[in-house]
Amino acid sequence: MAIFREIPPTAGLPIHGPDLLSLFRPGSLEEDFRRYLGVPCARVTCSGTAAFYFILETLKGLSDKKTVILPSFVCPLVPLAVLRAGLKVALCDTLPDRFDLDPAYLQQVCAGQDILAVVAVHLGGIPVDMEPLVRAARSCGAFVVEDCAQALGAAHRGRKAGTHGDFSFFSLCRGKGLTMYEGGVAVAVQARHARALELTIDRLARVDPRAETLRVLELLGYWAFYRPLLFWFVFKLPQDHWIRRGDRVRAFGEMFAADFPTHRVSWLRQAVVHASFGRLEESIARQREKAAAYFRELARVPGLRCVTELPGDMAVYPYVTAMFDSPAARDKAWERLEGLGRGVSIIYVHALPDYDYLRAAIPAEPCARGRHLAAATLTFSTSGFLTAADRAIILKELQR
Ligand SMILES: Cc1ncc(COP(=O)(O)O)c(C=O)c1O
Repeated sequence: MAIFREIPPTAGLPIHGPDLLSLFRPGSLEEDFRRYLGVPCARVTCSGTAAFYFILETLKGLSDKKTVILPSFVCPLVPLAVLRAGLKVALCDTLPDRFDLDPAYLQQVCAGQDILAVVAVHLGGIPVDMEPLVRAARSCGAFVVEDCAQALGAAHRGRKAGTHGDFSFFSLCRGKGLTMYEGGVAVAVQARHARALELTIDRLARVDPRAETLRVLELLGYWAFYRPLLFWFVFKLPQDHWIRRGDRVRAFGEMFAADFPTHRVSWLRQAVVHASFGRLEESIARQREKAAAYFRELARVPGLRCVTELPGDMAVYPYVTAMFDSPAARDKAWERLEGLGRGVSIIYVHALPDYDYLRAAIPAEPCARGRHLAAATLTFSTSGFLTAADRAIILKELQR
């Protein structure tokens, strides 16, 4: 067991000391996002989930429809935002070996009359094909929301992820690249929706000094512990505890509730991310290099294939996803790799219908492909801490 050296499972950016010296630089994080994406409105929120919730509350003011279509395989916080907004979830299964919604399945779900929005999730930082999705949404008069929680900087057909629909949101949570420990950004892509989103956030996001103070302390903790020598204590130790108790949902940090915070984010935490915004492109380039190395190396292992960007697109790959031929092969690989401390992990342990705590609110769809993604994939970190030697050890284990 690799005590005292644990590579984080995703390519989160550590806080750089020198960035903290430029906290008072001109401009703001919201301006950074507006300029980077070329959008009229970007508002910082206390999480990606809160950003999505504010977008849904905005949509409620623009339409009477009540159903939001989500992929079967996504972070369980996403449906919780839908439920908190008093809306209904409809599920659409994915393509067999990608995170994209299956266009034929989506057409069927969109045939219902009540579709408020279709959510495109650029999971693993890989842009999904937006054209069939936007077409299906428009055919039933639904809005398109892009979940870019893992995809800041990705591009589809030459345009940034988060600018292809009506609204989008990003996560600034730990492990998600740029970070304020917990945070997010809500975006209105079109000027005609900007004011509605601004008004919703002004109405619903409250100042909460206690919650914000806690987040500032957690950000300090992140600065101290987000390094391989200490990460084991805050990540692997609790994970092993829950795995020993047989609770994989808690082990992978997927136990959530619908009363997630919605408070305002202080100037200080926004300034930390604003100060590090200039490092974004360089970190994406590094992640892509590591992903490319993994693609070359994993191609030599029989029985698995990687999920990659579509031709002409640019993924940001905070991790690489490999799909095994069978759940049994995945489980065997996981047994060998999980204790190595080299950033191998699982994205989500279940498809949405299989989380006990969501069962009452999620339709019991078969979702065979989402279930297969949960059962047959492993993820390989592209963290800046990962070295070629780490990858060689993983590869050797896999080849065995
Ligand atoms: C795909 C996806 N959507 C939404 C979220 C929610 O973002 P946050 O953790 O910032 O609330 C996450 C976070 O894990 C995510 O991975």
